[in-house]
Amino acid sequence: MNPLASDSQDPLVVVWRVTERCNLRCPFCAYDARLERPRGVADPAEIRRFAAVLADWSQATGRPVLLSWLGGEPLLWKPLEALTRHCRDDLNLRLSTTTNGTTLHRAEVQAHLREYYTELTVSVDGPAALHDVLRGQAGLHDRLRTGVQALVRQKHLTGHGPLLRANVVLFRETVTAFPALCQSLADWRIEEITCNQLGGLDRPEYYPAHRLLPPQVDWLTARWPGWQQQLADQGVRLLGGAAYLHRLAMTAQGRHLPVADCQPGESFLFIDEAGRIAPCSYTPQAYGVPISALHTTGDLLSLPDRFRQLRRSHRAAACEDCHSTQVCAKFTTVEADVRSYG
Ligand SMILES: C[S@@+](CC[C@H](N)C(=O)[O-])C[C@H]1O[C@@H](n2cnc3c(N)ncnc32)[C@H](O)[C@@H]1O
Ligand code: SF4
Ligand code: SF4
Repeated sequence: MNPLASDSQDPLVVVWRVTERCNLRCPFCAYDARLERPRGVADPAEIRRFAAVLADWSQATGRPVLLSWLGGEPLLWKPLEALTRHCRDDLNLRLSTTTNGTTLHRAEVQAHLREYYTELTVSVDGPAALHDVLRGQAGLHDRLRTGVQALVRQKHLTGHGPLLRANVVLFRETVTAFPALCQSLADWRIEEITCNQLGGLDRPEYYPAHRLLPPQVDWLTARWPGWQQQLADQGVRLLGGAAYLHRLAMTAQGRHLPVADCQPGESFLFIDEAGRIAPCSYTPQAYGVPISALHTTGDLLSLPDRFRQLRRSHRAAACEDCHSTQVCAKFTTVEADVRSYG
């Protein structure tokens, strides 16, 4: 019997922000193309090396690894396609990404996504006119819809292709359009819908006038189970249950939600473009470990303990008000809301 084998068969999700470059001008986002800021990119050789370490860990523990590319806009980063092929074909990792969809109309991009990805998340923030205004370019929404619908068609024809998810940012101005948006995403045959409330760290100047208000979160919370049921009847999962709605409510009320034990590094890891690995996207600075120092399965197995110790000795301010969407149960269904906050 393998002594490292884990009881859990849940994938280890590794979100890797591979580029800070983007082609869109979303006024709510830190990577808005208009901003003059450093635009780091990951080192492709280091991705290859560390992906092999992840693959060894997966072999040793029997747990799959889902590598999820994030940006900026990951699908515009030139080295990504070859890296994705290598990770899937040579290392047997699962692949996922989140995209603004500006390349999805291209047949070769669709073919690559269909062939290589386990999951694809597209960002959709409202009905056509609203989405285009929010993302700073006319025609974006319709091009995105055309790309997604082509993927859906091909998936149904071939029986092969990624799980299709839409992620929606909820703003003060858009929240009432959310149920109609969910219905149109169901009509596109999107399989899962997730949402983020507008977050405040990215663009502090934009946030105050656009953040959700407490009565809006109450409105969402009261209707959420009904929407979940209506969508489920159409085969669409609206993810996020009571714990996630609680997180939204606390933020809207300006209240903190500290997390005593987030089980750091057990089921989720974040890597930034500079190659720091951390328990979540909020903590590379506080708890980040350079991946260049991690070479073996043993090194990866030691990460949860290292993160726990760091959280004990140098607790980051982020942990006093945890916004990690993994910890706040953004991806769970109602039945699976099990996290405890402390
Ligand atoms: C930073 S983007 C990177 C991927 C890609 N460029 C995209 O737009 O999908 C990842 C996700 O974060 C969301 N996002 C961006 N700024 C946000 C903010 N201030 N608050 C909450 N979500 C935000 C985007 O809508 C997107 O779904
Ligand atoms: S939300 Fe995505 S598309 Fe918009 S600026 Fe940010 S990274 Fe770019
Ligand atoms: S911010 Fe949240 S997920 Fe990140 S380390 Fe702190 S408690 Fe854990």
